[in-house]
Amino acid sequence: MKAPRVSSTIVIAALLISILASCGQAPATTTPDAGASQPAAAANTGTKTYKDMTLCYPQLGAESDWRTANTASIKETAASLGIKQLVFSDAQQKQENQISAIRACIQQGVDVIALPPVVEDGWDAVLTEAKNANIPVIVVDRSVSADPSLYASYIGSDMALEGERAAAEFNKLLPNGGAILELSGTTGSGAAVGRAEGLRNKLNANIKILDSQTGNFTRAEAVPVMQAFLKKYKPGTDFQGVFIHNDDMGIGAIEALKAAGVKPGDLKIVSVDGTRGGFQAMVDGWFQADVECNPLLGPQVFEMALKLMNGQPVDRKVLTNETVYYPDQAKELLPTRTY
Ligand code: AHR
Repeated sequence: MKAPRVSSTIVIAALLISILASCGQAPATTTPDAGASQPAAAANTGTKTYKDMTLCYPQLGAESDWRTANTASIKETAASLGIKQLVFSDAQQKQENQISAIRACIQQGVDVIALPPVVEDGWDAVLTEAKNANIPVIVVDRSVSADPSLYASYIGSDMALEGERAAAEFNKLLPNGGAILELSGTTGSGAAVGRAEGLRNKLNANIKILDSQTGNFTRAEAVPVMQAFLKKYKPGTDFQGVFIHNDDMGIGAIEALKAAGVKPGDLKIVSVDGTRGGFQAMVDGWFQADVECNPLLGPQVFEMALKLMNGQPVDRKVLTNETVYYPDQAKELLPTRTY
């Protein structure tokens, strides 16, 4: 019997879709579907394509270069895959705006909601509404504390591991112990909670966390926080290092440190993200390490959304494989950074 012939157009189209899906994508490790119940928008027919997809992305804000890159990744992937509609909004770091945007998407009858939650708590009601409307939700970037049966999957970074990696850097940078300050991200956000926990879990006992204040992941808010720290504590005497939860706050902190006469290298500074700004701070001698947090999640989000539309099983957790960057590679890598 002759094997059925597959048209070359179909083969080329399939290849193109798989290349697009892996292009510029954050490398990932997955946790298989443990059989948890997931809302599925379609019967298990596998016939829907990207052209049928309306995806809702209630972005949490535009607070950092990381966020700008995440937004670009979502918008560019939606355009390159040719989805029917991307319903994008900017909640300006306010949970109530994100909840309203989700409710509008439910009303519109979108196929999938991909939610980067500004904070962990307070999602149960709206996630239940999405589930009752049979709209699957992918939690993206930051975690939620809601029951896992209310969403299909999480795609993003292991924030606790990022904090642990920062701790490992301080353990190397301050082998005889000392004190550090913490400039933390948005209070109650999965990113800030995870990084703070990871740091505390792995920091050597002889390194004390002298103080911790939030700069809400923004440059502007980090400046007065660092200024207040410098009024209270003497750099080099009271503290030897600073853990900063993202590069934007790091850049704000450097501004305050410079104004106070602190020089690059006087303090051990470890930041998170690995943006161009963070790389520049390493080149300039301010950061001793930058823990990577990859924002390029678009391809994974849309690939999973299509599976959900077709009622196919998805991994419960897709964690991005990340690394730590150091000043000795920063100059060479800086021109290659895409965000
Ligand atoms: O949730 C990811 C964090 O949010 C990034 O570290 C930060 O830059 C962003 O604002």
